Amino acid sequence: MTVQLRVYVPPHPLIKHWLGVARDAGTPPALFRSAMTELGRWLTYEAVRDWLPTTDTTIETPLASCPATFINPEVPVVVVPILRAGLALLDGAQALLPLASIYHLGIVRNEETLEASCYLNKLPERLNPETKVLITDPMLATGGTTTMAMDELTSRGVDPANVRIIAVVAAHAALQKLSVTYPMLNIFTAGIDETLNDQGYIVPGLGDAGDRTFGT
Ligand code: URA
Repeated sequence: MTVQLRVYVPPHPLIKHWLGVARDAGTPPALFRSAMTELGRWLTYEAVRDWLPTTDTTIETPLASCPATFINPEVPVVVVPILRAGLALLDGAQALLPLASIYHLGIVRNEETLEASCYLNKLPERLNPETKVLITDPMLATGGTTTMAMDELTSRGVDPANVRIIAVVAAHAALQKLSVTYPMLNIFTAGIDETLNDQGYIVPGLGDAGDRTFGT
């Protein structure tokens, strides 16, 4: 059986709305941050739908017993924000996954070669292969950063089939690369754009997500 990259663009009015706000060059940083928080929330909501492990039990309501389903606390769930811009999606993701551990990964692209390099790695040495990993990275441009993040995760024991990624905009180039490097991934994005410019920015995209989040 061939494994194929799965890319979801949830047809949700709130996701469309906040994507429009984030793309608009006139949106000031404070509102841009709100848009990213909301996109983090709604994309996480979509991403965990059939992914968060649950456990079935029986509980007593004030009137009778009834079946109930809870999140299974025994399966570890972690969120990996890719610094800087992945921090902008973290609040929204963490609101839905309050018990998840957060492991920061700082990855920067060389402005000329666009090669990714890792300057901060807070991942533990080993992760249980059952661990569910949610990566937050707003802009999937060349796919180099995501591939590097996946290399770091899988070398510590993570099963790539347990990884989901939330992104605000994904470029064709990134999806093409990831369909080769990690085809078992599931990506949840608010939009897919065709083009990258010479500096590796997504067009139309939304500009530099880190700069717009932090007002730099
Ligand atoms: N990173 C960004 O912040 N924006 C892009 O368009 C591409 C990478």
